[in-house]
Amino acid sequence: MTLAGPERPRIGAEMRELAIINDGAMLIENGVIQRTGQLKEIEPSINKDYTVVDAGGRLVMPGFIDAHTHPVFAGNRANEFEQRAAGATYAEIAAAGGGIRSTVRQTREANEIKLQQAFEKYRRWFLRNGTTTIEAKCGYGLTPEHEYKLLRVIGAIQAPRCVPTFLGAHEIPDEFRSNPAGYVDLVVQEMLPEVARAELAEYCDVFCEPGVFGIEDSRRILTAARTLGLGLRLHADQLSNSGAAQLAAELGAATADHLEHTDAAGIGVQPVLLPGSVYGLGSTRYPDARAMIEAGLAVVLATDFNPGSSPTPSMPMILSLACTQMKMTPAEAITASTVNAAWSLDRGDEIGSLEPGKLADFVIHDCVDYRELAYFFGVEPAHAVYLEGRSALREVVDLI
Ligand code: NIG
Ligand code: FE
Repeated sequence: MTLAGPERPRIGAEMRELAIINDGAMLIENGVIQRTGQLKEIEPSINKDYTVVDAGGRLVMPGFIDAHTHPVFAGNRANEFEQRAAGATYAEIAAAGGGIRSTVRQTREANEIKLQQAFEKYRRWFLRNGTTTIEAKCGYGLTPEHEYKLLRVIGAIQAPRCVPTFLGAHEIPDEFRSNPAGYVDLVVQEMLPEVARAELAEYCDVFCEPGVFGIEDSRRILTAARTLGLGLRLHADQLSNSGAAQLAAELGAATADHLEHTDAAGIGVQPVLLPGSVYGLGSTRYPDARAMIEAGLAVVLATDFNPGSSPTPSMPMILSLACTQMKMTPAEAITASTVNAAWSLDRGDEIGSLEPGKLADFVIHDCVDYRELAYFFGVEPAHAVYLEGRSALREVVDLI
């Protein structure tokens, strides 16, 4: 399954075209794809200098690109998960000092080594689910030093590939509760210039939500980020319809993410839909993916992996939710989590499809029909994972 096609994000009916080659083969040199085609076409080019990998008739596809994750944090929030099961809401827990601020307290206590160890576990989870690139946000430090620490941890990871995003504006930290404007000043005047100077991130994101960062604060932070040369992404309309999606469009953001409460489908920027956070919060209000596809938007799907709303690193689980809850077809969901996700991270010319000239980031899944990826849920379908033609994960499990 190559997803070969036009050199741009896929829209409308294009999202259902996966460019499948039966009995396919792929020739790779120095980590770059040279050719794809039927085995009988490729076979004559293979000489003794090549290593042959036999996928055994399984599905081979580009690695998933997870364009929205929060993977660096200490501890977890299984306690709040239990409270929510007993009826408390995410907003109530946050207002009482839990939620993101609880993870921030734990993360500030952890040094870089501890955070690397935590990330070590999660990066394996991503790879085992067939993800080869993630967009990775900081946002659980909320002081200059702690935010830079998180971005350095992200910067040290080789596999999966990480695209770093600065999310200093994720929450108002405890010490600024009586002076939230002071925290926005700190983000704009101190953190953003240093993040840009030290090239710690490619994108800037803001949790735009009434009571956290409102439209005016978000506009100020994102405008400053844009001036410093960062790309823009935005947590928009997750818990209420506050006009955040329009703000993303007005500022020329790369993406508007979440969109559970956005009313107009034609928002004009790439939507990143995060059904894992809807499911994880026990809500049933999924974003209107069908209307967005009808409106010609190049929809992206991502996990939103984080310790609060969406504790899953599994793109196959997200495909299942996209099909069962948002009525996307399996093919649309796969396009949304590979080639469209690559374009949303400005890497559409390098990754996201298996085409000559692109990096050989591919996964062999233990199935024969691509629809199985979305149909089975709660399994890890990846059989082998390759980054630039090199094995990134090899697990031999012997059963007795
Ligand atoms: O995308 N809403 C803000 N950020 C995350 C949740 C982070 C957390 O709860 O720790 C989200 O859902
Ligand atoms: Fe998020």
